[in-house]
Parts: sequence; structure tokens; C-alpha cells
Amino acid sequence: MDKKIKIDVEPIGKRIYIKKPTNGLNALVDAGIGIKTVCGGEGTCGKCRIMILNQKDIPVNEQEKNMLTEDEINKGVRLACQQVFDKDLDIYIPAASLSEEQKLQVVGEEREIEIDPICNKYHLKLEKATLEDTTPDFDRVKNALKKDYSVDVETIDYNVLKLLPKAIRDNKWEITATVRDKEIVYVEGGDKTGGNYGIAIDLGTTKIAILLVDLKTGKTIDSKGIMNPQISYGEDVMSRLNFAISEEKNLEKIQKVVIDNINEALKKLCKKNKIDCKELLEMTVVGNTAMHHLFLGLPVRQLSFSPFIALSGQSLSIKAREVGINISPGAYIYMLPSIAGYVGSDHLAMLLATDIESQEGNIIGIDIGTNTEIGLKTKDGITSVSTASGPAFEGAHINYGMRAAPGAIERVVIEPESYKPIIQTIGDKKPVGICGSGILDSIAELRKAELINTRGKFDKESKFITKDSQGNSQYLLYNKDENEDLISINQKDIVEIQLAKGAMRTGIDILMDNAGITFDKIDKIIIAGAFGSYIDPKNVINIGMFPSFPINKIYQVGNAAGVGSKRVLISKKQRINAEKLAKKVDYLELTTHPKFSDFFVNSMQFPEPERII
Ligand code: FES
Repeated sequence: MDKKIKIDVEPIGKRIYIKKPTNGLNALVDAGIGIKTVCGGEGTCGKCRIMILNQKDIPVNEQEKNMLTEDEINKGVRLACQQVFDKDLDIYIPAASLSEEQKLQVVGEEREIEIDPICNKYHLKLEKATLEDTTPDFDRVKNALKKDYSVDVETIDYNVLKLLPKAIRDNKWEITATVRDKEIVYVEGGDKTGGNYGIAIDLGTTKIAILLVDLKTGKTIDSKGIMNPQISYGEDVMSRLNFAISEEKNLEKIQKVVIDNINEALKKLCKKNKIDCKELLEMTVVGNTAMHHLFLGLPVRQLSFSPFIALSGQSLSIKAREVGINISPGAYIYMLPSIAGYVGSDHLAMLLATDIESQEGNIIGIDIGTNTEIGLKTKDGITSVSTASGPAFEGAHINYGMRAAPGAIERVVIEPESYKPIIQTIGDKKPVGICGSGILDSIAELRKAELINTRGKFDKESKFITKDSQGNSQYLLYNKDENEDLISINQKDIVEIQLAKGAMRTGIDILMDNAGITFDKIDKIIIAGAFGSYIDPKNVINIGMFPSFPINKIYQVGNAAGVGSKRVLISKKQRINAEKLAKKVDYLELTTHPKFSDFFVNSMQFPEPERII
């Protein structure tokens, strides 16, 4: 067998294989990685910068010498379009080279698993009914499935039963039947075994990731990220629950808005890929416990008050039509179980997708979001916590904050001598605000430049710290037109970030304390989530979200919850594994922990200079 060339692509956390030496840009584009290619590979736009991490003496050609600085060349930066990938490589794609689409990442790192979907299609050539053979239609299909494929069927979906006679008689007694767990869930005329599709969803508080998957091959055909429209009823989980219980009709309202938006997105995804929505045979959904309940329209009063009780700790299979999702008429939605009131099936999906349980050593898995779930795996098992980190890293509650969209400042470096900011915006557009990664960078760089102290207070003596029109201290990131057109980080923004990172750090510290281990015993940190895959891990340490830790032991795996959702879509075995795992994970309640307040106060601090990297 030919040896394949392996390319590990960071920060996306994607591994690709190529069969023969290939132009770097082509290899990345063919693998579906959204890298900028303004000049189409001519080597004249300089947008397709990559950093080659594991090689010395990397060839550099004239175009690269023209487009790159000497410093960049020495650091291993090259143009993907001018490189040939001819050996195993670790490459890093800087944020500036990633397309906007990639930044709204909905996919994550995947490991190979056995494809074993719950829905399978069977092509049947039925015997025509005669006066001598008056077997009913369903029995005829059932018998053929047994005879031709040894497949046992016990029942047929009511809506599908209604489709059966026409499908049979319009197609000369030739049909394709889809079977799920001894139930016929769809019938089509002729041989339709070629198309077998499903949908995996990660239902986030802020964003919804939708993957269109080929159930036969396990491949993601396409994906789409949409904002969770429930945001108009509240930014965080608690305010949405409060809305849902405040009036009788509200639960229905908040459910409908998300169902309608998902249906709309499915329609677009299917149209783009020339698939009929009826061909979507199964859907899996993961999300935090509140999103899970609101998606299904389940009562949430018991979830809204202490002791925060979920309705079911089991996985659920529910007919899609009962929830209002427009896919195949007999299709099911499979919902993974939640672990606890505030540790949902998205966390379970993340633990599943990263195979954390079977990995050696002590591992922290963290999925950064409006609610951040953290799992610690030690030899004694997995314990998880949930922290209310809030939406600050989504740009909310930050003076000039915005979501990652064109014009958002996404990278910030403060020049060590001049103290001037170097900013980079999404899409290289005029700055209009600052998104999560830019906020994180700003605070880390302010601390590094010692323009803020360990308590997060600005150095008011510095001439680089100015006052805004309300008299608040601020550091200017962009100032085109004195007071009119400026973007800054102010003292209140720093407090918001302190609260968010403090919540996460408290979760980590309490997990460590509970397990009786210190941070130097941690072997690996896995950061999941779209935001988590895009942040600079160095700056995560520099703001003290994590204690000091080797960067090379931090793995950014993208949307692992989405990958977990996909895993249970394409594999029955993975469903069983996930259901077993849900029972094994211990939940630790943070707010009632006796050391919570002490840890939280300490976690607000920023690191001392010697801890800055
Ligand atoms: Fe323009 Fe590579 S695509 S330099």
C-alpha cells in the first residue's frame, strides 16, 4: 500500500492525507479548508500564508521572498500556493489567512470510527399481487426484506404506510425501503439506495451548527452555521428559561422560532446539495440541557429553579414531525442524554468525540461558550462542571464588542516599545468593533505590556491610557477620527473578561481540588468549540484562564460537540458508548462548593509578569 502524506492543520485541528506530493494550496482547498486565495495561487496576494511548524530548511522561492518579511521567513511562514506538500507536515494557518466561513467554524477534528448507521436502505423487487397472491403491501415488503436481506421488520410508520401503495404501483413493484430498528421509516419508488442522508446538529446557546452527512460513507457533505434565533428572548440560558415560564404561550413561541430557523436552514442546505429534505432520514441533536428542553418544547419550570432537574436522563428518539422538523415523513430525532441540569448532551458529545475516556493520563476537556462545561479525566473517572462564563467572549457586554463578522478586530498585538496596537480585522475591512478573540488578545497584550496590573486596573500614569467621554479609562485600539470613530478597551470591559475567565478558572481549580491533583499533573488540555479553536492558547494562559502550561500540550479541536452529534448519527455503537458514558460522568455543582468563593476571588487575578509567555 502506498504511504500517504499526512498534514496536520492547526488551529482547525484537522488532519488531511494526500496520496502524492501536491501543491500546498490545492491540498488545503481540496480538503475543504477555507484559506484565502485572492490571486488564485499566483503568489502575488500574499494571503495564503501558512506556518510550517515541524521542518527546518523549508524551501523559499522568489515570490515568497517578495511577499514575506525576513522575520516571517525565518519563523517558517510560507505561501501555501508556492509550497509542495511532499512529506508529513504540521502547519498552522494564521487567522488572517482563514476565510470568514472558516472562522464561523461548525466542524471539528474527527477520528475514524466504524460506520454503522441506524437507518439503512434496501432495494426490493417485489412479486406483483395477483388473485392467487393477495398478501397485503406491508407484509409483502416485510417478507421481501427478510428473504433478500435477512432483515427483520415489525412495524411501519403510519405516514409511510400511506405512501406505500403508490410507491409500489407507480414503480413496477420496485421500491427502496429504509429500515430503522425494525421499523420501516421511509419508502421510495425504484432503486434509491444511492442517497442515504442524515443531519447532525449542535444546538448552541448562541450558534447552531448543522452538518449534512452521508450515512453510508460517514462523510460530511456540507455544513452550515446559523445564529440561535432564541437570542431575541434572552442572551443566556437563564433568561430564556425565565421567558419560557413567564407566560403560558412563551414555551411554544421560543420553541417555534428555533424549529422554523432550523427548517429554513435545512431547506437551503438541501437545495444547495440537490437533495430533497424528505431524503433526510435521521437527525441527531446535542445541546445544553435548557436548549434540549426548549428545542423539544418540554416543560422547563423544574429546570429553572434549584435543584435544576432535567426531565429525562435517558436518550430520546422522537418523530421529527412531532417536533415540527420537516425531514423524511417517518424520520426520528435522536437526542443524547444530558449529564445534569447544567451539563448537557453537548458536553457528553464533546467527551465522546475526543475519546477522552480511553486516553492516557489526566486530561482537561473544556468547551468554551456562554456556558462553559469542563470535564477532568483522571484514573478515577471523569468529573464535569458547568460555569456561567457569560457571553463576553461572544462580544456581548463589551463596549465595542461584536460577534465575529467582517470588520471585527480579531487579532491585537501591542508593540513592546511604542505601546501602539497592531490590529487585524475579519475580512481586512475597516474596523467596526471587536470580537472575542480580539478582546482576549487585547487583555493579554495589555497585561504583557503592563498597562494593566494583576488586579486588572489600568496604569493611569501611562500616556497610552486615556479617558473616554464619560471619564472611563481606556486603551485605544483604533482611533481614526479622535472621538468620533474609535474602538477601545475600557475598564468595564476588563471586568467583564475577568468575570468570564474567572468563572472558567474557578471550574478548573475546583475540579483539580476535588480530584486531589495539582496542575503540573495535567497531561493534556483539549479546547473545543468554535471560539476555542480560534483563540491564541498563549493568551489564554496570559490572562490566567489556565495556569502556566506547555502550549504544545493544548489541543484545539474545533466543534467537538458537533462531531459527537455526527458520531451518534453514523454509528449505533457510538450511541451505546455515549449512553454508557453519560452514566459514568460525575457532576460537581460549583456554586454550592465550600471553596467556591475563595477560588473565584483568586481566579479574577491576572498573572504576575514572570508567568507571562
Ligand atoms: Fe495569493 Fe497564494 S493565493 S499568494
